[in-house]
Amino acid sequence: MIDKINDILKAVRDFKASDHGEIEEFRIKYLGKKGLIPSLFQEFKSVPPHLKSEYGKLINDLKDEASEKLNSLRASLAGTTESTSFTDLTRPAKNMFTGCRHPVSVVRNEIIEIFQRLGFTISEGPEIEDDDHVFTKLNFPPEHPARDMQDTFYIKRQDREDCRPDDILLRTHTSSVQVRVMENQQPPIRTISPGRVFRNEAISARAHCIFHQVEGLYIDENVSFADLKQTLFYFAVEMFGKNTRIRLRPSYFPFTEPSAEMDVSCTICGGKGCNVCKYTGWLEILGCGMVDPNVLDYCGIDSKKYTGFAFGMGVERAAMLKYQINDLRLYFENDIRFLHQFRSAF
Ligand code: PHE
Repeated sequence: MIDKINDILKAVRDFKASDHGEIEEFRIKYLGKKGLIPSLFQEFKSVPPHLKSEYGKLINDLKDEASEKLNSLRASLAGTTESTSFTDLTRPAKNMFTGCRHPVSVVRNEIIEIFQRLGFTISEGPEIEDDDHVFTKLNFPPEHPARDMQDTFYIKRQDREDCRPDDILLRTHTSSVQVRVMENQQPPIRTISPGRVFRNEAISARAHCIFHQVEGLYIDENVSFADLKQTLFYFAVEMFGKNTRIRLRPSYFPFTEPSAEMDVSCTICGGKGCNVCKYTGWLEILGCGMVDPNVLDYCGIDSKKYTGFAFGMGVERAAMLKYQINDLRLYFENDIRFLHQFRSAF
């Protein structure tokens, strides 16, 4: 029996396998139910008692060695396909999961890119602002409802006794950045300010207390409403497709005069009327107007010499129109099933 054990041990040690099939044959031959090693355990039953401990150890060692060999054979072929001789090297590799941008980033970058093509620079500013930059220099009268606690998050500074309780706030629009640009720079100014803004609103499918804007400003000699209209028309066509039409409706903003709201022809029905555009054929996309001369003067720009236009839009809203997203809250939930639908070069 000793010879038999040694023969098997030698065979186990010498065994070499080049594919999974051979490894499986090895397992069946030595370790399988009817394999050589289990049969040794059968024979062991008839070994005389005084030899049992010696033989038992030999057989157990053999079994351990064969099991280890099996594991190392398997490990050496791990990562190869079941049967290497039939591997199809032309088969496409498994898709690798790569991350994707959030739809708000995708659309914000797209908006930025369109205006950059028209020569607009990008300007950024603080999210925590003062009343001057968010309201006063933008010609908001002291009693204007947007200053109301309803709409604005005010921040009380603990460290400054002299600080008015309504002076420090979270910006409600990125027009504040444009005030900073005008204070520091003389025309020509052509800039957009993308960024996060904050409004004290109840969260619903159509409103959120945090959202993103891209606002634009162009100031130079002889800038006219026609320039505003053509710029925004170019933007609408680039953003929503070449058959897009625009319309401007009179509106009111303290910092522009005249002011307008711009609609684009419905991205779903093309203007015929559907439930997305509520059968009007139009979707509201942004606010705009000619910069009020008061604003220019407050910011140190000669309103007799220069004129300008400004516009501002919500990025979430633009993305909703572009991708037919019907609930604003989806942007904030980070549900992978939603986010994975936006794959883009931007
Ligand atoms: N600042 C305005 C808003 O937050 C948008 C706007 C910007 C309107 C510039 C007109 C001109 O809604």
